[in-house]
Formats: sequence, structure tokens, C-alpha cells
Amino acid sequence: MKRVFSGVQPTGNIHIGNYLGALKQFVELQEDGDCIYCIVDMHSITLPQDPKELKTSILDVAALYMAIGLDPNKCTIFIQSDVSGHAELAWILMCNSYTGELSRMTQFKQKSKDEASAPAGLFTYPVLMAADILLYDTDIVPVGNDQKQHIELTRDIAQRINNTYGETFVVPDGRFLKEGARIMALDDPTVKMSKSSKNIHSRISLLDSPNKIKKSIMRSTTDSEGSIRFDASEKPGISNLLTIYSAFSGRRIEDLETEYSSAGYGAFKKDLVDVVCEELLPIQERFHEIRPSQELLNALKDGAERAENIAEKTMKRVKMRFGLGL
Ligand code: AMP
Ligand code: TRP
Repeated sequence: MKRVFSGVQPTGNIHIGNYLGALKQFVELQEDGDCIYCIVDMHSITLPQDPKELKTSILDVAALYMAIGLDPNKCTIFIQSDVSGHAELAWILMCNSYTGELSRMTQFKQKSKDEASAPAGLFTYPVLMAADILLYDTDIVPVGNDQKQHIELTRDIAQRINNTYGETFVVPDGRFLKEGARIMALDDPTVKMSKSSKNIHSRISLLDSPNKIKKSIMRSTTDSEGSIRFDASEKPGISNLLTIYSAFSGRRIEDLETEYSSAGYGAFKKDLVDVVCEELLPIQERFHEIRPSQELLNALKDGAERAENIAEKTMKRVKMRFGLGL
């Protein structure tokens, strides 16, 4: 069985773009992989966080994961900072990475450009990510395309250490999530739906109320032509709504075009509200059950124990290879 590992930052506001583009695939993967899903809270503190909000977000994300169908009996869900091996291994990997390669990371360049003075952790962020992955002898890392460079770096560091110190790490492969379901912003279908947009109606978050979902969809940007057909360049708004409709209902876009060939945008949008609510409301119900439950805390505790067991073995091996410790 292949070992699968992925990390997600505990930032709230998970939207349907994240859900369709990434999370649903995590759920599918748990059926035939040995999956470990980590809430990477130590990556979050590379930029300042409010401690109370961070704690809340960690538990929110964990509960949401379980609510969408990640099953702690089938996969391991845990919080990064609960397993000390991540930070420990990161140090060792840092001593085997170069400032030159780290300064080429585009995510670092983007995130540091608005900071008067960038924290060192923002610079070494990709090395902590490499540690997350290598700590668990990971075969496959499902991530968004934007993480390609970090996966390459992880492979480079692993190979470098294997060459110098002997076989130490499994060299992982990235599994880049399908671009097919790239969901665009509802207010501006030429840009990706994102957590950071100031306009809350640009996105649908998984925990949005039916009323908010309705408002966001009904006021979404379309065009003046009035016909419902897929044409991403000429009709990006309607095309995006068709993509969302299709992803949520499992129906083909061509079939939706036929069904709505004589309908107006208003009627189409109304049906889309129903389709989205039908999937999100049960998720929200489960979320509200799981979030305050002992079940959630137990799952995270069990997950951390399972992760710790694997991490401990890897750290022993790594220290032995490097001649560290007793
Ligand atoms: P982020 O938190 O923005 O890095 O996104 C987490 C995951 O969701 C990544 O794997 C992305 O590929 C995916 N994702 C984010 N935004 C979208 C979007 N608008 N459409 C599809 N997938 C997305
Ligand atoms: N850097 C990833 C992101 O921003 C999150 C992450 C941290 C991660 N550690 C990881 C992803 C390990 C996959 C594997 O999305």
C-alpha cells in the first residue's frame, strides 16, 4: 500500500474551490492508500497568528475534514506540532539545503514581498515541508500545482542525503491535483476563487449559511447574452457556474447545457443554489456535531500517536546515519 501524505494550513474559510480542487480527492485517496493528513500549524506561524484564533482554526479544519468524509479509521489525521520529529528533522534538512535554492522559491518571494523584514521561518518554510513528507517515508504527495517547486526541493534534499549518507529517505512523488475543477471567483470569473479576497460574495465557504450561498450565487457575475453554454473565454461567468453545477451534481456540462437551453440565468442560478446547498448542508450538520465532540479530540490524539510511531523510527534511522546522539 502506498503511503500518502499531505499537509493543510489551518486557515479558516475553506471554500468550494479547495473542496472540489483538493479535499474531495483526499477522501477518495483514503480508500486505497495509507493516508496521513496533517494540519500544519507550525507552517502557519511563519507569519504572525493570533493564538486563540489559531487554536480555533486547527479544530475547525480537523472537524471539517471529518465532516466531508475523512474517516479516522481509514486515515491518520493529526496536528503537526503534536509530533516533535517535524521540527527536529527540519533542522537536519536545513543543514543540507542551500540558501541559494531556498531563495529561488516563488512562494517565499511572493509571501515576503509585503513584509518589511521577512522572518527566517518564512525562508525555511519549504524545508519544514520537506521534513513533514520525509518523516513518514511518503510515496505520494497530493498537492496543488503551486506546490510543485516545494516537492522538487524535497526530492533534491532526499536524494542529496541518500547519496552522501546512504539510503535514508524514500524519494516522494508529487500527485498534482486535477486542474479540471479550477473554480473561479463568483464576482470576477477571470481570477481563482480564493480565501483572501475582500469580497465575501466572491466565494462560497463550506460553512456558509443557505442564505449567504443564495446571495453569492444570485449576484455572481455573468454576461448580457443570456444563453447558458460553456465558453470559458467568451462566457467565463456562466462557464464557472456550469463547472460548479457539474462538480456538485456529478452531471455532465453538455447535459446541463441541453437542460437549460431555454432557461434564463435567474432560473439556472436558483437551481444551482439548491444543488450546492444539498451537498453542503449535510456537511455542515456533521461539522456542528463533530466540532464540540470528544470524538474529534480522540481522533487527533490517536492520529498523533500513530504518526509519532512512524516518526520515531525515521528519526532513529536519520540520527544513526548522521552520527548524532548516543
Ligand atoms: P490554498 O489554501 O489556497 O493553498 O488551497 C488548498 C488547496 O485547494 C490546493 O491544493 C489548491 O490546489 C486547491 N484550490 C485552492 N483554490 C482553488 C480553486 N479556486 N479552484 C480549485 N482548487 C483550488
Ligand atoms: N505548503 C503547503 C501549502 O501551502 C502545505 C504543506 C505543508 C504541505 N507541509 C506539507 C503539503 C506537506 C503537502 C505535504 O499548501
